[in-house]
Parts: sequence; C-alpha cells; structure tokens
Amino acid sequence: MPLRSPIEYKALWEVDRIGRASRLVAEALLALREESQPGVRTEDLDRFAEALLVRRGARPAFKGYRGYPFTLCTSVNEEVVHGLPSERRLQKGDILSLDLGAIVDGYYGDAAITIAVGEVSPEASRLLQVTREALHCGIAQAVAGHYLTDISHAVQRHVESNGFSVVRIFVGHGIGKALHEEPQIPNFGPQGHGPLLKPGMVLAIEPMVNAGTHEVIILEDRWTAVSQDRSLSAHFEHTVAITENGPEILTISESGEGW
Ligand code: MF3
Ligand code: CO
Repeated sequence: MPLRSPIEYKALWEVDRIGRASRLVAEALLALREESQPGVRTEDLDRFAEALLVRRGARPAFKGYRGYPFTLCTSVNEEVVHGLPSERRLQKGDILSLDLGAIVDGYYGDAAITIAVGEVSPEASRLLQVTREALHCGIAQAVAGHYLTDISHAVQRHVESNGFSVVRIFVGHGIGKALHEEPQIPNFGPQGHGPLLKPGMVLAIEPMVNAGTHEVIILEDRWTAVSQDRSLSAHFEHTVAITENGPEILTISESGEGW
C-alpha cells in the first residue's frame, strides 16, 4: 500500500508507550502458542486473543483495519499471512502463523510468530528456524547510521542461502500512532539504500518466507494470501526501536521472553 507521510521520529516517552503495547502483544502470542494444540479451532484462538487484550486494557489493532473482521490473523501451512480465523481445527503437523497487534494509549505494537502444532516435518521445522533467524539478521542491521535496506538485504541473504524464498508483495513498516507508518521495509534487495536509520525510529520487521516460489496469490475471501505453489510459508515479526545503544526489541514479555 502506498504510504506518503514523513517518517515519525519518536520521543523516548513515545517509545515507552509503543513498548507497553508491544509487551502485551508478546505476552498474548506466547500464551496463544500454548493454546495452539491439535483440535483447537483458529476462531477459538481469535476469541482468546481479543479477551486477553481487552482484559489488559488494550484494543485490537487489526479489527476494522481496512475492514479486517478479526483480532488475530491465523495462517496455516501454505497460507502466508492474513489467514482468517474459522471453524478449522488445527491438526498435528500443521504450522500456524499468528499475527497480532494491540493499541495502548493511542500507540501500536505488532508482532507475529509461526509455531509447530505437535510434531512437524523436518522441512517445516527448518523453515521456521530459518525464518526466525532471518528476522534476527534483519534486526541486527537496525542500527543508527546503517541504511534501511541493510535490513532487507540481510533478511534475503539468510533466507536464500538456506534454499528458501522471500515473499516480495508484503513489507515491514514503521509503527507508532498508526499501525503502518513510513518507511516501508522490503525483505529483499541490495543494501545501502533508503533512509539512514536514526534513533527514534520504530520499525516492525517481518520476513515472510516460502519453502518454494516467492510468488503469492490472494484467495476469494480477499484476505488470505497463499504461496502460489502451495508450499509451506512462515512469518516472524518484532516491533523494534532504534536507540543510541542499538536495536531494542519491544515485543518481548515482561520476563524477557521472545522468539
Ligand atoms: N502484521 C500485519 C501488518 O503489519 C498485520 C496486518 S493485518 C490487517 O500488516 F488485518 F490488519 F491488515
Ligand atoms: Co506488521
């Protein structure tokens, strides 16, 4: 989607607010990971997520965003992102991406994890591992003085050197008083381009990785994105602040647990 506003640099108190929303998102995703057992319906997870956010004084960030009808995105197996919660029951061997956003005091946090439901194939588990590592390769480049696409390049390099492919039609994004702010963050491309990274930027970095082709199609429901060849797909996301002391991952739990 075209975004044409300037980059919003955040004051420390604003990073703190984004941090509160982000911490809650992380805690909810970690709880959802425990709930995601064989036999559970993806709509049960959506209700669980919404109840948890509301109980903690937050609002779901995705519900109503461009007409999205749920709190949570649940993308199973070949579904890349934006899978709609439904009566579908999880089965042993599925991989499940959970994407969640929250608003606390007017500021957004956004994160995603992909989890194994029961035991999964060796290929599936390698896909999860490589996608999580690619996120952290990207985060390691989220340093003041680097260029934006240093993040993009690091993600692509890790993914492709492991024989997988990076989804190109969706990007990461700035985040703050809106879910999607400038800059857009592609997960591929040459390093050394885009704006210089500076303290006060807060970025949602979110590689989506397919086991087969990088091409994606959108289903009839107008939301669910699937890999064109129906190969498995994984997604990990963190909300990250660029500080004087390097990248600070905001989507971690109170006790410091992340992914
Ligand atoms: N993490 C995704 C994003 O940043 C989730 C958006 S889902 C939507 O774009 F429903 F809100 F669009
Ligand atoms: Co996002």
